[in-house]
Amino acid sequence: MSDPQLVLADRVRAALAAAFGPSFADTDPVIRPSQFADLQANVAMSLVKPLTQERGEKQNPRGIAEEIVARLDVDGLVSKVEISGPGFINLTLSDEWIAGRAQDALADDRLGVPPAEHPQKVIVEYSSPNVAKEMHVGHLRTTIVGDAIARIGEFLGENVVRDNHVGDWGTPFGMLIEQLLDVGVDAAERNDSSVSDLTAFYQAARQKFDSDPGFAERSRTRVVKLQAGDPETMRLWQILVDVSKRYFNHVYARLGVTLTDDDIKGESFYNDLLAPTAQELTDKGIAEISDGALVVFPPGFKGREGDPLPVIVRKSDGGYNYSTTDLATIRYRSDTEHADRVIYVVGAPQSLHFQMAFAVARMAGWVNDGMVLEHAEIGNVLGTDGKILRTRAGGTVKLAELLDEAVERAGAEFDKLNHDGSFDAAEREAIVEAVGIGAVKYADLSVARDSEYIFDFDRMISFKGNTGPYLQYAATRIRSIFRKAGVSPDDAHGPITVREPAERALALHLLGFGAAVKSAFETAEPHRLATYLFELASAYTAFYENCPVLKAPDDETRQSRLALCALTLRTLVTGLGLLGVPTPERM
Ligand code: ARG
Repeated sequence: MSDPQLVLADRVRAALAAAFGPSFADTDPVIRPSQFADLQANVAMSLVKPLTQERGEKQNPRGIAEEIVARLDVDGLVSKVEISGPGFINLTLSDEWIAGRAQDALADDRLGVPPAEHPQKVIVEYSSPNVAKEMHVGHLRTTIVGDAIARIGEFLGENVVRDNHVGDWGTPFGMLIEQLLDVGVDAAERNDSSVSDLTAFYQAARQKFDSDPGFAERSRTRVVKLQAGDPETMRLWQILVDVSKRYFNHVYARLGVTLTDDDIKGESFYNDLLAPTAQELTDKGIAEISDGALVVFPPGFKGREGDPLPVIVRKSDGGYNYSTTDLATIRYRSDTEHADRVIYVVGAPQSLHFQMAFAVARMAGWVNDGMVLEHAEIGNVLGTDGKILRTRAGGTVKLAELLDEAVERAGAEFDKLNHDGSFDAAEREAIVEAVGIGAVKYADLSVARDSEYIFDFDRMISFKGNTGPYLQYAATRIRSIFRKAGVSPDDAHGPITVREPAERALALHLLGFGAAVKSAFETAEPHRLATYLFELASAYTAFYENCPVLKAPDDETRQSRLALCALTLRTLVTGLGLLGVPTPERM
């Protein structure tokens, strides 16, 4: 184990048990970063009450801290222990220990991050675009954040199931199928723009539906056929789904998103489960008829006037809706998939929908003991004017055009760099694509996912500050040191020693990688990992400015510093990889 916080927590707990008895072995030692040392243990203050009670005599926190320190075995781990203030225990890690753990991480494929001892089955639901509709920047963000969460969970050894809950069912498909028949099925097969331009296709259908009563009538009949599973209608529906899948996969490939067709479990997948789901709610006496509809009133949800808010399970016309599908989905994920945790990476505006669906599922007993359902809320994406992102002409922004622009701008910035070599056109194109796409992805990942976020090319494509290009560049600069040294980073074995403060700070920060990855997954907040990587790059910059590597005073120091460079490089590349951000070899 190389995470200083965890190691120290273990040692302090052992001291607590030795000083106060085995019942204190599980007490939280409250280890925190400290201004005066590397870490401090603040547990003494919280023990005043229980110990006073147990001993029948007023205890003071400083005395408790002294008792803990007397039993604290930190030989070889901590070089200085100091009690300060009311009873803080300040702990300074020994330089040798830090260097030793950095050395361990260097020799470990997993960079010192142990795989989960008890892997959980975690369904990460993300992306979830709608069939026959273009993806918008909101889908872009849920896709990027969800993919990072899935990658991080997998790295930690969790049993991750990716789930793309595409919107591929419902009443609009009546008019969409009729529109498909009007433009001709062969147009879809040819990938003709009359179908593959999804926005135009959808709008054309909508317009006809509103203006042509005959078309509207055909559409309604078609919905009934679709719901009845009529084979010819299903065939046409499948064609539309396939056109959209092709488009989604194109976007995923360009973004380097790991979703495949096998991860799709769209709304249609749950169609046969809707009626049994409604039936079970009725049988259990949870659902009731209100104005002809079947509804559930989960306790605690009130409308503006204080009136109880319903979840509509079956509309008065007999149709099911979005909520019913989500209830059937929860039921399936617990009964059939036996998930331990489900992370819904979906826009924040759907928060109430999920809270209510989760509440109904709990009432129905569909949330197994220990099963966690969580909505990982994604904030809206705004333009630089603070309003929902639009084109200059006021239209919705097309994803492909947005990415093209990012790559084009990345190219302009890239050409301004002081390069470490010359690039032919193909190399330049590959790098610029990685920088442009990486910039967009990192921008989504570096801010708290639930905050609104301003889509600003100038900021995200800058090579300065907490940006993707800055981190990519930091990694390639380390690679260029190895090229100059004429050695491969894989051959930098140290041994690592830490003498200079900047060496020590860098090595210590490197030891925090596992903790950053874990907390990103536990909270489903990839920005915690992004923040860690940005701080790592900053610690590296301070090291690089203060501690010459190639011109180190002696060979031992040079080997140690090269090893620190190698470990930093691998940590950056691995960390960026977990965020789904590629690192070019050279820039
Ligand atoms: N298709 C929906 C949309 O584009 C998102 C689906 C979210 N997931 C869910 N289980 N309801 O808004």
